[in-house]
Amino acid sequence: MNTKTSTIYSSILVCVNYRDGHEKSCAGSGSQALLEAISEKLISKNIDIEVQTLKCFGRCQNGPVLRVAPGGDFFEHFSVEQIDKLVDYIMNQSS
Ligand code: FES
Repeated sequence: MNTKTSTIYSSILVCVNYRDGHEKSCAGSGSQALLEAISEKLISKNIDIEVQTLKCFGRCQNGPVLRVAPGGDFFEHFSVEQIDKLVDYIMNQSS
């Protein structure tokens, strides 16, 4: 099976910042589980896009937050159910 790539995007950046207490954070909103689910989806579709973690986009109230890089859109309040939409965004920008 041929590996698919994007001509625009090279990675998905997922915030995994965690804060104790009552402050919202992406890890506190489930971003760690997203990492594995996104990676599994990319592998299943044979798409070569790197998934990276980082600590905070400054949009903590809207977590989980991720961004397509370089220069792509932010995705906020992201959930596993939105992964197909994310993959479509990446691949439809690359044709
Ligand atoms: S904790 Fe994820 S954007 Fe700040």
